[in-house]
Amino acid sequence: MRIRKYGDPVLETNCAPVAEFGTEELKRLVDDMFETMYAHKGVGLAAPQVGLAQRLTVIDPSAGENPDAKLVLINPEILEKRGKQVGEEGCLSIPGFREDVARAMHVRVRAQNVDGEFFETEGEELLARAVQHELDHLNGILFLSHLSPLKRDLIRRKIRKLQKAGEWE
Ligand code: NI
Repeated sequence: MRIRKYGDPVLETNCAPVAEFGTEELKRLVDDMFETMYAHKGVGLAAPQVGLAQRLTVIDPSAGENPDAKLVLINPEILEKRGKQVGEEGCLSIPGFREDVARAMHVRVRAQNVDGEFFETEGEELLARAVQHELDHLNGILFLSHLSPLKRDLIRRKIRKLQKAGEWE
């Protein structure tokens, strides 16, 4: 699947809930998203990043090393956030730019799986960071929003140059 880059309006869309569960299409979409994420060495990928404005994300903090680490969150909601961590963050939709972002250290989430069953899960450190980053995507928010206006404008200007040079598609 083609990854949409910063500037594509789908990345700044408030995504719609997934309504149909257990279908072959949904299962194939999840598989394709994992494959796309691993191909780009990411630890999380949200549906809008592949052009679909739906509340669905795949996460794997082990980057494919541990099959048990695979997480599919559909229509997710954060129930609780605790603590704080500051660490470098990037996004497959904003390649080449990484910046420190402050996030909660620990999150508890409620979501649905591909069959529509509700479940709760918790995570900390990288998993918590990935969950918060990916859930932001579902609300049309990119990690740039968490930076200082100065840093954000600097990155935007650099991206605009890349766009003009035809090096951003
Ligand atoms: Ni991202």
